[in-house]
Amino acid sequence: PVSVYKSQQEASIAVAGRIAALIKKKSEKGEKTVLGLATGVTPIRVYAELIRMHKEEGLSFKNVITFNLDEYYPMQPTAVQSYVTFMNENLFNHIDIDRNNVHIPDGTLKQEDVAAFCLNYERQITALGGLDLQILGIGRTGHIGFNEPGSAPNSGTRLVTLDDLTRSDASRDFGGKQNVPTKAITMGIGTIFKAREIILMAWSGKKAPIIKKAVEGEISGEVPATYLQLSDHVDFVLDEAAASELT
Ligand code: F6R
Repeated sequence: PVSVYKSQQEASIAVAGRIAALIKKKSEKGEKTVLGLATGVTPIRVYAELIRMHKEEGLSFKNVITFNLDEYYPMQPTAVQSYVTFMNENLFNHIDIDRNNVHIPDGTLKQEDVAAFCLNYERQITALGGLDLQILGIGRTGHIGFNEPGSAPNSGTRLVTLDDLTRSDASRDFGGKQNVPTKAITMGIGTIFKAREIILMAWSGKKAPIIKKAVEGEISGEVPATYLQLSDHVDFVLDEAAASELT
């Protein structure tokens, strides 16, 4: 289903509310919640609302385990552009999550150790019973995570090459495209698909053309997000501008 909100703010509050309700429901039963998290500008207000709920309403993340979608490769966790830094600044530093429960692909691995790391990432998710909820943004190439055009629907966590457009879109963060890493470690389309609930968010008219393709276009590896049309547990959460080209 597609849900359209007047503003990014309203949509973000609704998504944060769903995440909080899931955490509370599972915590009451003594269960952990396993969340798949995204970086980028799209989820920032969702995280801000979760932080507010933690500070003002006592929402606890003690029973939450997180797996981030991706990380640039190579990347030092202390770098300002790393997704570790992003998650710390936008969420983890402000909530009561146990740092041992936080998982982000490791951008410091030696190339020969990447494959084993990726297999273990999958195993860790599976051993916890799978992802309860995965949140996603979408890139202008149609990528989810860093699954660029050409990604297979059953792909797992792996090292990938970033699309040229993705690197252009990241160039501001790196002070020039030449500084943007050419590779990343990302969960696969298959990894994302196994989540029990998937929420893909998009804001602003800049995302309207790719949202039209993702939601209404032919299912194809050329636009990896179109694979989500095959799932019966995905919600596209949009603001009016991102939804403006939908028929
Ligand atoms: C981030 C990720 C990417 C972004 C996408 C949109 O972890 O996996 O797929 O969600 O590139 O980025 P923003 O939100 O910055 O427009």
